[in-house]
Amino acid sequence: MSRKTVKVIIAAGTRPNFIKVAPLIKALDKHKENAGNKKGVKIDYVFVHTGQHYDKEMSKSFFDDLSLPRPDINLGVGSGSHAEQIGKIISKFGKVCLKEKPNLVIVVGDVNSTVACALAAAKLSVPVAHVEAGLRSFDRTMPEELNRVLTDQASDYLFATCEDACANLKREGIPEEKIYFVGNVMIDTLFRFISKIKANSKIGGSYALLTLHRPGSVDNRAVFKKMLEALRRVSKKIPIIFSAHPRTQKQIKLFKYEKYFNFLNSSSMRSINPKKAINLLNALPYPEFMALLSGARLVLTDSGGIQEETTILGIPCLTLRTNTERPITVKEGTNIITGNNPDKIVKAAFAALKNKLNHKKNPKYWDGKASERIVNILARELR
Ligand code: UD1
Repeated sequence: MSRKTVKVIIAAGTRPNFIKVAPLIKALDKHKENAGNKKGVKIDYVFVHTGQHYDKEMSKSFFDDLSLPRPDINLGVGSGSHAEQIGKIISKFGKVCLKEKPNLVIVVGDVNSTVACALAAAKLSVPVAHVEAGLRSFDRTMPEELNRVLTDQASDYLFATCEDACANLKREGIPEEKIYFVGNVMIDTLFRFISKIKANSKIGGSYALLTLHRPGSVDNRAVFKKMLEALRRVSKKIPIIFSAHPRTQKQIKLFKYEKYFNFLNSSSMRSINPKKAINLLNALPYPEFMALLSGARLVLTDSGGIQEETTILGIPCLTLRTNTERPITVKEGTNIITGNNPDKIVKAAFAALKNKLNHKKNPKYWDGKASERIVNILARELR
């Protein structure tokens, strides 16, 4: 008797999404190749890019470097207000679901593309799987928090990176049988590329690496200025390399904050000679960014994924926010939440440079096999 084949749509739209879908697509390909030996259904997939990120450095470079297949469909939504962006994706992705008639839609992370694709599918009664379910900052001023809560409520398969995420979901009334603790797909990608990343880590000397892009950090003139002044104080002790998102660069121009930076040319990455200053580079492709990250003495960031990557790499990470949706990186990893108070940032940075880091063990299931677990569960459950 021939085995049943199901069709899934895997949706992505932003830089961190590409890092998360890459190992899932690889696991789907592997499952298909070995379908004869595996239990459960065969899975065909259609890969959809919403187009939320579109610059080469935010999108195409990730496809090349992570060996992602070209998207089967690109919705080309681009930038806009949250309402416009989410509205356009719901409308366009809904049409894709009607045409493709998938048995399941897989979404990852917490960006506008995630919630929009989940809602479009759920409205058409297409089951949804959310990878990275259950993370909560409990801060509704953060756009991603609402995306997380709504995506989880619209989902049928909730794949969590850690036990506290499972507990959050149960507290919100999600039935236990929908929740699967599988580990972290972003760490799957880190493990896949780690030896290449470390080999590329050619910048000599001691430096701190900085990323900032969240509205809460860079959209308010006074908040951004206070943070930059603190960072300038840190940079007198250790050069800071700042890989800056395009929206951050727009804010720097808008606020005329160029005076805070020494501008570096990212094409000369290999010969970087950072000054004791905040050295600004464009957003970087994944291998180059990760090479910089793995060689850093200290990381300062408002990103979510970087809190997880530094935990695995054993590098002290200061999260310049007042909260985190990833408390496991504080409890079991190398992360410290500083808030955006300048004195606290400087004090925490100096302390992190002075103290020897007591690296604990990696969180459970952050082992490079999360995607494989997810695909095996789906093949079993979609029978
Ligand atoms: C989005 C996610 C955020 C994630 C981040 C990773 C939401 C609500 N936010 O934030 O959670 O951490 O991606 O990068 O989904 N822009 C470009 N080129 C691009 C993309 C964006 O110049 O390729 C500029 C545009 O001015 C745009 C702005 O960045 O308006 C914001 O882009 P958007 O996709 O809305 O959010 P991000 O800040 O990238």
